[in-house]
Amino acid sequence: MKPAHVAIIMDGNGRWAEARGLPRRAGHRAGVEALRKAVRSAGELGINWLTVYAFSSENWSRPRSEVNDLMGLLRLFIRRDLAELHQNGVRVRIIGDRENLEKDIKSLLLEAENLTAENTSMNLVIAFNYGARDEIVRAAKSLFADVQAGKITADDIDIDGFGNRLDTAGIPDPDLIIRTSGEQRLSNFLLWQAAYAEFVFLPCHWPDFGRCELETALATFNARERRFGGVGAREAAL
Ligand code: FPP
Repeated sequence: MKPAHVAIIMDGNGRWAEARGLPRRAGHRAGVEALRKAVRSAGELGINWLTVYAFSSENWSRPRSEVNDLMGLLRLFIRRDLAELHQNGVRVRIIGDRENLEKDIKSLLLEAENLTAENTSMNLVIAFNYGARDEIVRAAKSLFADVQAGKITADDIDIDGFGNRLDTAGIPDPDLIIRTSGEQRLSNFLLWQAAYAEFVFLPCHWPDFGRCELETALATFNARERRFGGVGAREAAL
């Protein structure tokens, strides 16, 4: 089975650059190139949803210059690639907290979403200033406000209703989460949505991720048996 939704933790830009004696920003720049390729490959391979972790709510603790580089790369990515994404029928959505982002970035994000809102070939979800715990707290606050306002009662809150308050409302849960660079952790990415995701950890640094690496991850996914808390086909037949 092919995953409908692949989510990627694009890790290792810094190490890729350091290994080449380059500044970290060169690694992030190469990371954007890998992101472009990943979107194309995912489209060619029939992946309907691709989510990428571009900037976490914890990334603000990096040196100011690196934060500025990453903000600049997001601006560049949207300015340069939006037309091509749109032409290829890609719908762009952004998850994360936009409130404190710079004004021009907020407008760019909105522009990307509005321009591509009717596209149906593929969905690209960019997690930017995203942290899953923050997302869950924002969802809880929004439910609490509705309870206080008398719009709903605590008994109305269920799993689907909670999920609909998350940034990912309307987006299917990821089937496969890939992390590059050998690290084996979620780092506050899609904690709620990853409940039944399969994980594939690849040793390559993100800038070296290409179609071949995506195909490897898909083949690994394909060989897994997903049970969703039930029993497998073999056990069910016994
Ligand atoms: C991890 O590498 C990567 C990030 C923190 C950001 C991911 C960003 C990109 C792929 C480029 C920017 C794309 C957009 C659209 C803004 P790291 O710096 O943590 O690498 P390290 O662990 O080797 O230091």
